[in-house]
Order: sequence, then structure tokens, then C-alpha cells
Amino acid sequence: MKSETGLTLVDTHAHLDFSQFDADRGEVLERANHSGVTQVVTVGYDLESSRQALALAREHEGVKACVGVHPHEAGKVDPGFLSELEELSQAPEVVGIGEIGLDYYRDRSPRATQREVFKQQLELAARLNKPVVVHDREAHSDVMSTIREWATGLVTADEDSRGPLGVMHCFSGDQRMAEELFKLGFYVSLAGPVTYAKADRLQALVGRLPLERLMVETDCPFLPPVPYRGQRNEPAHVRLVAEKIAEIKGLSLAEVASVTTA
Ligand code: NI
Repeated sequence: MKSETGLTLVDTHAHLDFSQFDADRGEVLERANHSGVTQVVTVGYDLESSRQALALAREHEGVKACVGVHPHEAGKVDPGFLSELEELSQAPEVVGIGEIGLDYYRDRSPRATQREVFKQQLELAARLNKPVVVHDREAHSDVMSTIREWATGLVTADEDSRGPLGVMHCFSGDQRMAEELFKLGFYVSLAGPVTYAKADRLQALVGRLPLERLMVETDCPFLPPVPYRGQRNEPAHVRLVAEKIAEIKGLSLAEVASVTTA
């Protein structure tokens, strides 16, 4: 979709299939467009939500899909889930595998199962030559060792034919972690929390990270940026995340939009 504002923002991580959008999904996408958002990546959570993500991408111009199983759901997958993900990912609207990863904050699936399902989906992404969208909550060390092992194996196998390996969504690590991710071929993505009053550590970090390796997202309906805290988040609000990055870095919004979109 074209935006009337001349901006070219991408909300790289949304959950448009969630029921919070059932009543007004079309209007939500229209508002995103008015706000300068030209593309929304809607990200799967389990098989059903991955199917819905693909259906939404087929239905709406400017929407792309990722398919994958979130660590919260890792304990519920049946043995056929990988082949179903593979089948879904053949669709041209599917741009990546996600969201996948580890969540040791909620621990909704046993950690060993989370790690197993994460690794299986990383292998699938490598086979399909698709980037991954990684969720990491209070699991930095295990996420990094898993990614390190995976990415290092890939680089020796086929160095030139691969594009970016993936993105760390709603980044919550430190500078050292970000730099290792960049070296491994990853991007980091920022969401609403970068706008919070108490986020000075994250904001200072953003000031030091290269804009060329940053992406923006909402993770809607969750994580609304200031001043929408407590409300449903939606893709239009990704502009507030980009504005915050522009403010921190002393750049124009248009520049942040075009570089993060590229
Ligand atoms: Ni998410």
C-alpha cells in the first residue's frame, strides 16, 4: 500500500489475527496507512495463528506474514508441525519464520521443549532460506548460544547466497549482545518500550546502535507506546517508535523511516 504522508514505515511485528482486531481490522489498517505505514508484517504464534496470518496477508494489500510457533506454545505442538509450517511458508506472502525463541519469564512450556522447538524452526528457516523473528524474554544467554551455533554453521555452509538471518524482536539486551547479533547477520527491532519514561538505559543504547541495523515494530495489540499505554496497540503507532528513535539520534522521522524500512 502507498502512504499519503510520503513516509515508508514498516510495522515489522504485529499480531493482526488477534481477536482484539476482529471488530475493526480494516479501519486499523487504514489508520496505519494514514500514519505513514506502508507494510505490516503479521506474525504467527502457533499453527492456527500462522494460518490466519497468511490468510490476512492474502486478503489485505500491504500485509505480509510470518509463520511459526512461539515458545509459550512449544509444549503443545504435535509431531507434524514442522511440515505444516513448511507448507505454509511456500506462499509468496510469507516472509519469515516466527515468532520463535525462548521465554524464561513466563515459562509456559518446559524450557527443554522450548529449546528443542526453537532449534527445529531455526533449521527449517535455514532450509527454506527465510529469515527468523526471534522472541527472547529473560533468556538472553540460551537464545544467544542457540543462535550463535546455528548461524555459525550456516556461514560456513553457504556464505554468499544468504540474506539477513533474522531479527531480534522487541530487543531487551545490551550493547554487547546487539553487536554480536549484528556480526551474526541479525537486526534488532524496537517497540513501544523505547518510548517509556523509565527506558533511559534502552534509549541510551539506541543512541549508540547503527540505524542501518534497526527495525521498528508495535507487537500490537501489546506494548502500546506513550501516550497510548493501557490501550490496545495498533500498527499506526509504530510511527511513535520511529519518532522516538529520530529524537534520540537527532535525525528526521523520514530518515529513520527509510533506513529502518530498507
Ligand atoms: Ni509478538
